[in-house]
Amino acid sequence: EIHSSAKEGSKAVAQEIAALIRERQAANQKCVLGLATGSTPKFLYAELVRLHKEEGLSFKNVITFNLDEYYPIEPDALQSYNRFMKEHLFNHVDIPEGNYNVPDGTIQKDQIKKYCEQYDRKIEEAGGIDIQILGIGNNGHIGFNEPGSNINSHTRLITLDNSTRLANAYEFPNMSQVPRLAITMGIGSIMKAKRVLLMAWGSHKSKIVRRSVEGQSTDQVPASLLQQHANCKFVIDEQAAADL
Ligand code: GLP
Repeated sequence: EIHSSAKEGSKAVAQEIAALIRERQAANQKCVLGLATGSTPKFLYAELVRLHKEEGLSFKNVITFNLDEYYPIEPDALQSYNRFMKEHLFNHVDIPEGNYNVPDGTIQKDQIKKYCEQYDRKIEEAGGIDIQILGIGNNGHIGFNEPGSNINSHTRLITLDNSTRLANAYEFPNMSQVPRLAITMGIGSIMKAKRVLLMAWGSHKSKIVRRSVEGQSTDQVPASLLQQHANCKFVIDEQAAADL
């Protein structure tokens, strides 16, 4: 779905999310969202906050699971995705505190495997993800599932590609401070979502969008594995669509 701008595309995604939240509210049911970080979803979160403040959209029945977090990192560090989510969404809407989940970058290393299994179990116990929001890395990563990630992978600790560390270095004082590891929901966990909305804005995303949509479905381009998802849509702007 091609929009004239990132703002217009984000508004369309916000409308779909708001409609599902309201539908579930009317039926007294929960709505489970999978959320992403990075620059891509910033307009979406701003629009959801606006819908909350100006149009009374409530998040009381919403449960969220974020895709990923650097490891190790303190939750209040400037670059932490825990902090990002509070600053861009959770602090500005009425979501109950126990309802949002972002992977914890302070877990002891020998506890990570257990922690990741619990994260996946918690998603299942919540009834599975209704709508999964994704951005896309320049190398096609979704969450922090770098090329080579298995289509059935679960939440786990992964080693970041050097290209990803370089792309994200602007968030840190210098390259050596970019973490080498991250906790990410797996591709298998993402594939289980009932609906997947991947957003991409700007000309720097056009090549990887083309490879993901028109190329072979391969674990070398993790986003291309979404071709195998039954209910997935790429919501992009004209610049990101330029190579299609
Ligand atoms: C980051 C995140 C991804 C995100 C991607 C793109 O490393 N882990 O979830 O989709 O890279 O980032 P941006 O939205 O800033 O282009």
